[in-house]
Amino acid sequence: MKVLITGISGFVGSHMAEYLLQEHDVVGTIRQRSRLDHIKHLKDLQLVDLVECELRDPFSVEALIASVKPDRIFHLAAQSFVPTSWNSPVDTIYNNAASQINIMEAVRRIKPDCKIQIACSSEEYGHVEAYEVPIKETNPLRPLSPYAVSKVTQEFLAYQYYKSYGLHTVITRTFNHTGPRRGENFVTSNFSKQIADIEKGKQPPVLYVGNLQAKRDFTDVRDVVRAYWLALEKGVPGETYNIASGSCITIEELLQKLLALSKAKIEIKVDPARLRPSDVEILLGDYRKFHETTGWKPEIPLDRTLSDLLNYWRSF
Ligand code: GDD
Repeated sequence: MKVLITGISGFVGSHMAEYLLQEHDVVGTIRQRSRLDHIKHLKDLQLVDLVECELRDPFSVEALIASVKPDRIFHLAAQSFVPTSWNSPVDTIYNNAASQINIMEAVRRIKPDCKIQIACSSEEYGHVEAYEVPIKETNPLRPLSPYAVSKVTQEFLAYQYYKSYGLHTVITRTFNHTGPRRGENFVTSNFSKQIADIEKGKQPPVLYVGNLQAKRDFTDVRDVVRAYWLALEKGVPGETYNIASGSCITIEELLQKLLALSKAKIEIKVDPARLRPSDVEILLGDYRKFHETTGWKPEIPLDRTLSDLLNYWRSF
């Protein structure tokens, strides 16, 4: 099968490529300024085909779809860091919505039988009441960041193209996910990198943090890419599915787990710049709908994920 991954040079994109390339022809989009560190080994071995494409440009996307004619698209490219969305709200919403519209427009005209997975987010739930956890897909969406609004927009666009044109879109609302290669801005990677840098003497033994009270539901990225594949193989078009672990921890507990993996003596300091105008208090997902449809369940425990991630940062 011909599979197109948008954002293949990113964290999830690189894992998706590794998961698929044993059995499928993998093509991935990159941008002029994309860093290729995560997929250089795949490119060097000519295991994946990289195509430069500006997803915000309809002509560039049309040319891409016309030349690749994909059977499956995993649409992973996005502005995905919540704090950036407060500094660049217009860019976040425009980038995330326009890229997807261009893809769906090109697909409906050129390759209408292509199945498209849309990577949406648990951030869309935003403010959640205590009695609403674990969160089901039917929960109201009360987004608390421009990023979350961009993902709600993506989700409704996918639904609308399914209803209007019969496009086979499947929406995954993925809760927090991490693992080796996670970008250094995100909390798990940021704390791990700081610990690794402290161990190497590159940073004084002070670890900077933001809000430690938030609760998040973490899944390993390797379980997540398996879920994305199943979403297109077994998921119902136009439907939305939670991808989650079904348990959550506070960021404080997460920090303690990472600190327990190191012998370094480390002081913790709150950096006010890391606090957000509004932070989602709790995300704890109910993934039963996806499990019942596809049989998927998470397999990699959080402790292994965190240890793999810390070792990843130690390797630099
Ligand atoms: N990034 C970061 N850095 N977050 C911190 C820090 C810090 O130093 N200290 C505490 N936090 C808290 C944040 O305030 C937030 O409550 C939580 O840790 C997780 O932050 P992130 O890792 O930045 O992720 P996120 O929850 O905002 O968003 C991630 O998950 C979404 C799914 O729910 C991203 O991966 C999104 O792209 C994804 O959609």
